[in-house]
Amino acid sequence: MRQHVNPLSKNFNEIEKIPSFMEMFDDSKLNLHLDIGCAAGEFLFDLALTNTNWNYLGIEIRERLVKTAKLKVREREIHNLYFVFGNANKIVDDFHSKFINKNLKSISFNFPDPWFKKRHYKRRVIQPELINILSNSMRKGSLIFIKTDVRDLFEYMNRTISSNLNFKKIDKKDFNYSESFNPSKVKTSREKYVLDKKLDIFENIYIKI
Ligand SMILES: C[S@@+](CC[C@H](N)C(=O)[O-])C[C@H]1O[C@@H](n2cnc3c(N)ncnc32)[C@H](O)[C@@H]1O
Repeated sequence: MRQHVNPLSKNFNEIEKIPSFMEMFDDSKLNLHLDIGCAAGEFLFDLALTNTNWNYLGIEIRERLVKTAKLKVREREIHNLYFVFGNANKIVDDFHSKFINKNLKSISFNFPDPWFKKRHYKRRVIQPELINILSNSMRKGSLIFIKTDVRDLFEYMNRTISSNLNFKKIDKKDFNYSESFNPSKVKTSREKYVLDKKLDIFENIYIKI
């Protein structure tokens, strides 16, 4: 079991310089999907290689994983995928004005670190402040996807997002994935593990209204 990285550690106060979308992607006008806590980025590699009409951006707090992922992007000459290292809460805050971009269609939080102890809840990536920033910067109709195998974390994330009146939960049954960032329902690494262990998966989709 890996040790979770504490995002509140002062090591993550500074964030790297984030390039413009024009520098990140060959065609910055494509629809953009952001995956927060993307680990080594396997999920995003799978998506970027099959859906070349979308851009994908991953944020991850473990620097080594981001370095390796960036190297892989260069080696494979992938032009619709970019990785940023750092604490997503800080990056989204700093990056705020850049998110006011009509191309950002969706954000995913896949199997975030659960931080089980109550005194560690502040380390969870979904915080009211983050959701507030997103609600101020995401366009109407854009989506947030959450997924976890930890029921308590799911309830916490659902409470945090639902208490922001700019986000409304949508019925998963009616959701048409074919036009989403993930038309073929690619699974994340953690999701494959959880499915293999036959554990429950809890998920919701929210729309910015
Ligand atoms: C349990 S892993 C899930 C990885 C991947 N999303 C998946 O589904 O396989 C959670 C990831 O989120 C990253 N993470 C946790 N807090 C973060 C934060 N504040 N900012 C960016 N990444 C974070 C962790 O380092 C870890 O790689």
